[in-house]
Amino acid sequence: MGDLVVGIDIGTTKVCTIVGEVRPEDIFIVGLGIEPGRGLKKGTVTDMTALSTAIAASVHKAERVSGYDISRAFISLAGSHMASINSVGTVGLVGNRGVTSVDMDRAIENARAIAIPHSREVLHVVPRSYSLDGQDHIPNPLGMHGFRLDAEVHIITVSTSSVANLEQSVQAAGVFPDRFILNPLASGDAVLTDVERDMGVVVIDIGGGTTDIGIFVERTIWHSAVIPVGGDMITNDITHWMHVSFDVAEAVKVQHGFAREKGVSETETFLVQPFGEGMPEEIKRGDLAMVIEARVSEIFELVQNEIKRSGYDDLLRAGAVLTGGCALLPGIRDVAAEVLGCPVRIARPEKLTGMADTLRSPAFSTSIGLLRLGLQMDTLSTTSPASNGGGSSKSIGKRLGDMFKRLLPDEG
Ligand SMILES: Nc1ncnc2c1ncn2[C@@H]1O[C@H](COP(=O)(O)OP(=O)(O)OP(=O)(O)O)[C@@H](O)[C@H]1O
Ligand SMILES: [Mg+2]
Repeated sequence: MGDLVVGIDIGTTKVCTIVGEVRPEDIFIVGLGIEPGRGLKKGTVTDMTALSTAIAASVHKAERVSGYDISRAFISLAGSHMASINSVGTVGLVGNRGVTSVDMDRAIENARAIAIPHSREVLHVVPRSYSLDGQDHIPNPLGMHGFRLDAEVHIITVSTSSVANLEQSVQAAGVFPDRFILNPLASGDAVLTDVERDMGVVVIDIGGGTTDIGIFVERTIWHSAVIPVGGDMITNDITHWMHVSFDVAEAVKVQHGFAREKGVSETETFLVQPFGEGMPEEIKRGDLAMVIEARVSEIFELVQNEIKRSGYDDLLRAGAVLTGGCALLPGIRDVAAEVLGCPVRIARPEKLTGMADTLRSPAFSTSIGLLRLGLQMDTLSTTSPASNGGGSSKSIGKRLGDMFKRLLPDEG
């Protein structure tokens, strides 16, 4: 029996609650509740009442399906208010003795002590690597001898008020947010292979409202960013171009959309009912692809700028891994490869069992990543507790036990 955990992925277009048993070889999905997203724009709360109603509906669905009463959960967090920085912390090892886990924690704690504005708070402190007496790139120095230990960490900070708004929306839905996890960390955990993480890779999760970027080198995250662009912008472009409602444009995108003009035959057309009482209009699929390609290229140019800004663009030997709902757009891989100039793989969560059919889609990478990563973060003393302060003092068993009460005896 693995650990049973709950994750709530609060996205712009959907809220997804998953109850799953995290096992070494797979994740067994016990319950699932998906609701249309409301009250969140570009990863920032715009309507707390609408958002908490959507969260509550998603949680209730997952409760009904799983037979568990959900009281706590790991929560996804995006928002272009996030910022990331790398920092180093040092401790002296008196008497050239072996490094202990306390030394490692102290070095990380020192690395964490950076000056940040009052309006921001630290969300994650992820250890990248250690160096001992100047010898760097040591993944785990435990027990090794030296005089001076340096810990390199990746620190993610977020706007305090943005997190407070999300926290309040989750609590209003009757759930205690056990830990907030940044989207690109969760997506990376769900879809990247060990080889990719070793070689250096960028994971790009393009959702409805945000594009989440995580650069992984030597197995850990070295850079993260969230850009406020996504599939909703493509849909908006179609809305303006075709003079149709957002819903019609969304349906057109999903049914007929293609990310490359070159990939579509010149003769292909489809019919659309525009605003007003006119006759259905015949639209060339190639023209639609041209509109989509312009926006998709722009999104990847922004991603490319961010990769360059990180300074790690030369280290991505495994190229890019594309996920999020927009990865389903046919032709998008080619546009990504062209703009980024590297190999691109489209990824979805794998190794799922139980009620997993719906979840084997790029749209659910963040949702699935929350479960295993949330659990891992709880077991690592070297990662920071979430903004709510939960995590440091209570024992893991107690916390996971608190996540839900069983409603039905042994038959979830
Ligand atoms: N088959 C498809 N073809 C093209 N686009 C698609 C397809 N399926 C989903 N999308 C797009 O994917 C986007 C939603 O992706 P996703 O579910 O990852 O977003 P989200 O997690 O709700 O949002 P975010 O993470 O940005 O807050 C929408 O813009 C939607 O139109
Ligand atoms: Mg998302």
